[in-house]
Parts: sequence; structure tokens; C-alpha cells
Amino acid sequence: MTDSLTVRDNRTGTEYDVPINDGTIKAADLGKIRTDEESPGLAVYDPGFVNTASCRSSVTYIDGDKGILEYRGYPIEQLAESSNFLEVAYLLIHGALPTKAEYDAWVHEITFHTFVHENVKEFMQGFRYDAHPMGMLMASVGALSTFYPEAADIKDADNRHMQIVRMIAKMPTLGAWSFRNAQGKPFVYPDNDLGYTANFLSMLFKMSEQKYEADERLVKALDVLFILHADHEQNCSANAVRSVGSSQVDPYSAVAAGVGALYGPLHGGANEAVLKSLKKIGSKENIPDFIKGVKDGNERLMGFGHRVYKNYDPRARIIKKAAMDVFEVTGTNPLLDIALELEKIALEDEYFVKRKLYPNVDFYSGLIYEAFQFPPEMFTVLFAIGRTPGWLAQWLELVQDKEQKIARPKQIYTGDRELTFTPAAERWA
Ligand code: ACO
Repeated sequence: MTDSLTVRDNRTGTEYDVPINDGTIKAADLGKIRTDEESPGLAVYDPGFVNTASCRSSVTYIDGDKGILEYRGYPIEQLAESSNFLEVAYLLIHGALPTKAEYDAWVHEITFHTFVHENVKEFMQGFRYDAHPMGMLMASVGALSTFYPEAADIKDADNRHMQIVRMIAKMPTLGAWSFRNAQGKPFVYPDNDLGYTANFLSMLFKMSEQKYEADERLVKALDVLFILHADHEQNCSANAVRSVGSSQVDPYSAVAAGVGALYGPLHGGANEAVLKSLKKIGSKENIPDFIKGVKDGNERLMGFGHRVYKNYDPRARIIKKAAMDVFEVTGTNPLLDIALELEKIALEDEYFVKRKLYPNVDFYSGLIYEAFQFPPEMFTVLFAIGRTPGWLAQWLELVQDKEQKIARPKQIYTGDRELTFTPAAERWA
């Protein structure tokens, strides 16, 4: 049996054989289906690209029905358990795990690019006191393109590598300084004696002490959160990075677009909504009423359900454990009891079971961030720092992929045609 699709165009009676490769047909093959030479070929209409593959990718594999997430073939559970964020970043960028020498060189490179130009500090201090840290991050990562104009040469592999290292290294600095600006506190320079995540915590929370040494369990928990957020194949922000990157702009500008996409509440903001719901519920006794409201369609159980996962989001399971580890250090959050009870009830309730609604990555992450005393505006910044290697791995793949073209979708035009323009002076006379 040949892997192909036979399509009969009932407008003309013509039959077409469309090859099927990797479970897809080429949109360009459909373009050959036309009523006559003059008319445009058939196109697909797919707002939100819900059923359109935009690329071939070997970065991240997801099986939403089975609840599987793998980076470069390695299950997320194993990476979260036994790797660390910088090793995972190496894996995503290079496609394979590092040797000891490669790992040491990578960590060294990243560590020694954590500082930013003093001008970056000055312009970040120019933001208003109440500037949203995600807006500051988006602006400052985009601004880095002006500090490294050579980044525009995206065809040179060494040059690409340099910008990737810089970006992974500097994102925590920019993120921490965005936070400090909102707090009205002095910016803390990187401490390169510390590891990636410990240094980030130092830049966030250090005050007058000589050295800020975060509890190792907190460092580990945040590192795990970064790993869990490091990539998620063609999600909204990865698609934004690819779309902007397809114009062959420098990677700072492309990643700034990714930060912009993640800023939106439908992408990076759900964990804040979870916290709001838990606070609104207030105590375990109110859960049945709340569940009833959800089932009656009056509200959503935030942190449940996912476009891709129709099973327990594998990241949610790991985060739940990380949350317990964090609460051991910080003391428990009373909202945790509500979350656990809510999860228990929802997993047994027919409404949720039938619709395959399971906890997603956001159900517990907000609780952890709150335990770290991050204000909700910082949640997406944390997500962005974790997602940076993923965006860059996607960008790297894009710029080396010979099949890729500048992103330029079609439209179905619904407006007027061939109107006659009357100059304003005549129209308003
Ligand atoms: N609470 C209650 N009911 C829900 C929920 C929920 N969280 N999610 C889906 N449903 C119901 C819908 O009402 C619908 O029911 P119906 O068939 O009776 O109409 C059914 O389940 C299917 O839902 P859709 O909205 O069609 O599913 P979709 O795949 O489009 O949405 C989404 C996925 C947006 C994540 C949704 O589940 C949701 O809004 N969840 C809450 C928000 C959230 O947690 N978002 C974070 C996602 S993870 C991330 O972005 C990092």
C-alpha cells in the first residue's frame, strides 16, 4: 500500500494523489488542486495552527495521550531527577549529552558571560518603579542586539554559539534586575563562584551580606523548575521565535519575540490564575461548591487541562514533589492543602475524568514560586529564563534547516475590493 491520499475535487471531477510522509501531507501539494489555471490552488485554513506542522524538529518529543515529554529523546523525569539545568541546556542546544570536558567548558563559558554592559544597567534603571519585570526582560534582551551587532551574522556557526552562550548566561541577570527594579533595591552583580541557579537567587535576594548562599534544597528545586520549562516543542513562544527568526534577524530579537509571546496570560500566566483560584476557595470546606461552579460552567479549574496532554502532565508530577521539598525549607503554604484536596476530588470526578482534565505544569508551580516569595509578576520571568535554551535550540534548528522559509501564512480575504478613493478634502466638504 502506498502512503498517499487520493483526493477527488468535486468541483472539477479531477482526482489527485497526494503523498503522505511522516503522517503529513505537504500544503504545497494541495496547492496543485485548482479549478483552472487562473484560480488559486487549494489552501488549508488553520487558525492557531492546531493541525499544521510548521517544521521538522529533533529537539522535543511529546505524546500528550500517554503523558510523555522527552528532550532529545531523554525522558523529562530522568533529566529532572539526575541532571541539572546547564547540562539540559547543553543537551537541547547540541543535541547530545556533553562529555566531562565539554560540560566543564560549557559551564565555564556560561558562567563568564553572566555580566552585562554597564549601559544595560543604566537603561534598566530608567524603567518606571512599577514596570512589569516581564516587559523589562523583553526590552532588555531585545536591546542586547544593539550591544552585539555581530549577532546579525547568523550564518556563522561560531558567532551563533557566542550569542547562545551570552543569552543563556545573561537572562538570569536581566530577570533578577527586573525584579530588583520593581522592589526599589540596588542591582546585584553576578557572583561567578556560584552555580547558575544559586547565582540567580543571589542576584534576586542578596542584601548586605558578603555572600548570599541559598539553601541547597531551594537551589535544586528552582533548577528542576528550569529543567521542566526548558522546551515544549512548537508552543506559542517557540513559534514566535521561529517566525521572527525566519526573517534571519539576530537571535536576541527573535528571543525577545518569544518573551513577548510568553508574557500573554494564555501562555505563561496560568499559574498566577491558579493561585488566585486557590485563594478564592479559601478553605477545604468550600471545595465542593467550587467544583460545582466549575461543572456548571461558571468557572474553570485553572491549572487543569492542556491542549496537548490528555493525561497527567509529566511535569506536574515532578513539580508536586519539588513543591514538597520547598515547603520543607519554607514551611508549608496553607493553599497546598486546598490544592491537594482539589486534585484528589477532580481526579475522581466524572466531569474531569471524561474530559481527560489532569493537573498541568501550572497547578503547583505558582505555589512554589510563592514560597520563594516571588510576586506573581515574576512567574513568567522565571518561565522565560528556563525556556531560553529551548527557544535557542528551536532557533538554531530553524536557521540551519534548508526547508525553512520566511514565515508568511496565507489569508482568506474578507474585505471590500476595488473601491474608489475620494480625497479627504472632498469627503469632508
Ligand atoms: N476546568 C474546567 N473545565 C475545563 C477545563 C478546566 N480547567 N479545561 C477544559 N475544560 C472543559 C471545557 O469546558 C470543555 O468541556 P465541554 O466539552 O463540556 O465544552 C472540555 O473540557 C475541553 O476543553 P477545551 O477548552 O476545548 O480544551 P482546549 O484543549 O482548547 O484547552 C486549556 C486547553 C486552554 C489549557 C484548558 O484546559 C484551560 O483553560 N485550562 C485552564 C488554564 C490552564 O491551566 N492553562 C495552562 C495550560 S499549560 C501552559 O500553558 C504552560
